[in-house]
Amino acid sequence: MHVELYERIWMWLATLLVALFLGVIVLMAGAQAVAPPGHMETVDPTTLATHPEFGKPAVTTRPEGVFVTIVAQMFQFTPDAIEVPAGRRVTFRLTSADVIHGFEIAGTNANAMAVPGYVTQFTVTFPTPGEYVIACNEFCGLLHHNMVGKLIVKGEGR
Ligand code: CUA
Repeated sequence: MHVELYERIWMWLATLLVALFLGVIVLMAGAQAVAPPGHMETVDPTTLATHPEFGKPAVTTRPEGVFVTIVAQMFQFTPDAIEVPAGRRVTFRLTSADVIHGFEIAGTNANAMAVPGYVTQFTVTFPTPGEYVIACNEFCGLLHHNMVGKLIVKGEGR
């Protein structure tokens, strides 16, 4: 079968590009140990109320840092006003009791999803005190737009 020179060039170019992209993925995954989120923790959404941690979602201070447990549920976050210290590592642990919700701390790079059945965890440090709006950014129902919370970052008051 005869293939035109230019066509052959384009075929090779396309093949090379695909190989290059796949190569970059393999390289990043292997050499730089970049991987999709591996933290996989499950929780039964139907028994959240009696769960030792998610039954009483709150802010707790442990030697390793500050932990914030949050339950998202149509159409609120519990707790809906969170107070954390500035300049410390704050680990958010969230889940949902019903559908998928968003958890975005507006103006920061903290942005995650609350998925029923799973625990989402991430750690952030807020360098400066202030007040932030927490918004649900996944459409979760008729009152989705009302699903907001508040984060108060307090200065170090030792
Ligand atoms: Cu919860 Cu939108």
